[in-house]
Amino acid sequence: MKTLILGSGNGSNAASIITASKQSLLGPTEIVCIISDVSTSGILKVANENDIETQFVEAGSPKHKLSGEFETKWIEIIRKYNPDLIVMAGFMRILERSFLNNFKDIIINIHPSLLPSFKGLQAIEKAFERGVKITGCTIHWVNDEVDGGQIIAQAPVRIMDGDTCEIVRSKVQAAEHMLLPWVIGDLANGNIPFPSS
Ligand code: GAR
Repeated sequence: MKTLILGSGNGSNAASIITASKQSLLGPTEIVCIISDVSTSGILKVANENDIETQFVEAGSPKHKLSGEFETKWIEIIRKYNPDLIVMAGFMRILERSFLNNFKDIIINIHPSLLPSFKGLQAIEKAFERGVKITGCTIHWVNDEVDGGQIIAQAPVRIMDGDTCEIVRSKVQAAEHMLLPWVIGDLANGNIPFPSS
């Protein structure tokens, strides 16, 4: 399963995927490339340290979207890898329908809340400030509704009295690092079906 990872941030989720892959926990998964819209991002460093092909590709403005000529360029580059699966691992841009149509039913996203609660940016902060006692992370298929696609898997995290927002973030990320490799392995092994199969 040719797997391409998109990310903008630290790359801790990408690192968890790479580790699981090295431990042969992801079945027939091959990470073909990690692409980022941020040249200085941790995710590109993580990839380089692990000898995984990388690309930094400019994505222009607005900062939270991929559109116009930039979108065309991204589509062109990603197509060359002919991926079976595209993983948004902290990729902080909204993909429009024109992009999704080129990679139908093969894009998953990890989001740091129990969707449909706390969609969009700052999900951990929103859950913390709202005072919920259980939050977590969600992996879902990507469609043109932000954080609105079919849910594949979720992991819960308890917020205890006295937890700071940073503690909640580290708990949510620890849950992500278990859940994301697990889902990718199950997709690769056919235990979780692709929507079009
Ligand atoms: C992760 O917590 C992921 O859930 C979040 O960005 C972080 C990336 O961390 N994604 C979103 O908020 C998407 N809406 P990482 O770069 O260390 O993997």
